Amino acid sequence: MIKHDSVAHPELLDARDTIVSELGKNGVAILPPLDIELSSQLLLSLGFYAQCCVLDPWYNKGVGGVRDDYDDYVPHLLMCVAPLSDHVFLWGFPEIVARFVRILPEPLTLKCWLTWFYKNSPSRIRGWRSAQMTCLHLTTPNAVMHVENFLNDVQREKMEQGKLLYIPGPPSVIEESLLCGFVGRNEQTGHPSQKPLSVIEKTLLMATARGELAIDLMSGSGTTGEACVANERYAILCDISEEYTRIAEKRLGVARVDLDESILSLVNSREHRLPQSTVSLPEAHPRPAAPHLRGRRDQLELKIR
Ligand SMILES: C[S@@+](CC[C@H](N)C(=O)[O-])C[C@H]1O[C@@H](n2cnc3c(N)ncnc32)[C@H](O)[C@@H]1O
Repeated sequence: MIKHDSVAHPELLDARDTIVSELGKNGVAILPPLDIELSSQLLLSLGFYAQCCVLDPWYNKGVGGVRDDYDDYVPHLLMCVAPLSDHVFLWGFPEIVARFVRILPEPLTLKCWLTWFYKNSPSRIRGWRSAQMTCLHLTTPNAVMHVENFLNDVQREKMEQGKLLYIPGPPSVIEESLLCGFVGRNEQTGHPSQKPLSVIEKTLLMATARGELAIDLMSGSGTTGEACVANERYAILCDISEEYTRIAEKRLGVARVDLDESILSLVNSREHRLPQSTVSLPEAHPRPAAPHLRGRRDQLELKIR
């Protein structure tokens, strides 16, 4: 049975405070390499709750996949993160993720089928339909949609005045080139399956306001972290791989948090948990928004359910 500690376990409190202090210093906390099953359990035990969770596993198609059981594994991943956030963005190939739409774990439901379309796919020779990836946008009933992040100045003004009759939604097709060859050279980190920053950024802006939290527990090169920092959101990142954790540390200029081994056995036992309402994020983000995104600083505080 899970105990919501009335006298909180000191190790849990220490670990939670270490992560919050890291967010206050860097805007991003990178956890040591952990399997997502353990990292999600850790964040649950520490009482974290995010507005947005990115879930970008790799599959046997393309780079990196090593499993035969994706039909069982992906729903399991969704169950790991479902209690942790209001919006979940599940990435994958259309023909694979389509299978999961009908078996989503509660309280998640499908908000939107998003498509990332790229014209520069090297595999187009084998079939032009492989020039796209799917992102299932899943939400809980409480999730807030941040359409205000996608309005132009005129629309924003009208919305502030309550005169915007038709509210244009965020895009459901995102057209951006793949990072390969010379495309996005400055952004490439050496991770074999890195998503472009501009793609992750669009999903992040659908789901979060400034100062809110996103988590990515299969974070690879840390794209979600960079998108968060550039837009004054907070991010908690983790990846199972030591090599990719190092890549993310270098990319973001942030060292991983030092967690005591004992915390992991405590979390593994699943017996103790801090209540989810206890974590308060720092008031002021430590890193200013990226210059090309300054417009977003005037983001309206409007939230659309
Ligand atoms: C498609 S890549 C993510 C790429 C990332 N979105 C980016 O832009 O760099 C999938 C990542 O999941 C990580 N991974 C695979 N199995 C994992 C597991 N069980 N727990 C945590 N991470 C895992 C891999 O190491 C890999 O970096």
